[in-house]
Amino acid sequence: MAEEIPWERLFEEALRVRQRAHVPYSKFPVGAAVLYADGSVVAGCNVENATYGLTVCAERNAFAVGVAQGREKPVAVAVVVDTPEPCPPCGMCRQVMAEFAGPDIPVRSRTLNGQEARYSLSELLPHAFTRSFL
Ligand code: THU
Repeated sequence: MAEEIPWERLFEEALRVRQRAHVPYSKFPVGAAVLYADGSVVAGCNVENATYGLTVCAERNAFAVGVAQGREKPVAVAVVVDTPEPCPPCGMCRQVMAEFAGPDIPVRSRTLNGQEARYSLSELLPHAFTRSFL
């Protein structure tokens, strides 16, 4: 599957949705795009709140929209941030990814100047807590 993933399309979507990020507090817009097994792509941006604590990251928003749209089987995740080094997803987002995706799902993060980091979910979140324990 890895070779068939349309990464450029995913990063384009992540870059596009990043422009919609609601980040009046951090001024740190993030865009994320999730590819599903049916070829569809769902994008999300971070949405902050005046309480700060109610902020939702781009990755979690993308996965939530995927649920709302009835998407199943996420197969790749792309993230775009404007940092000197590529920025990995936060811990909460890793846990949410583990709810919907298997340990081998590839996650890539790019900066605006094209630097890229590549991970698998199991690298980002070893020993994930999943429904298998319930
Ligand atoms: N943020 C994301 O959207 N994704 C991450 O993986 C890391 C952090 C957002 C949350 C907040 O709006 C801003 O980046 C600064 O933490």
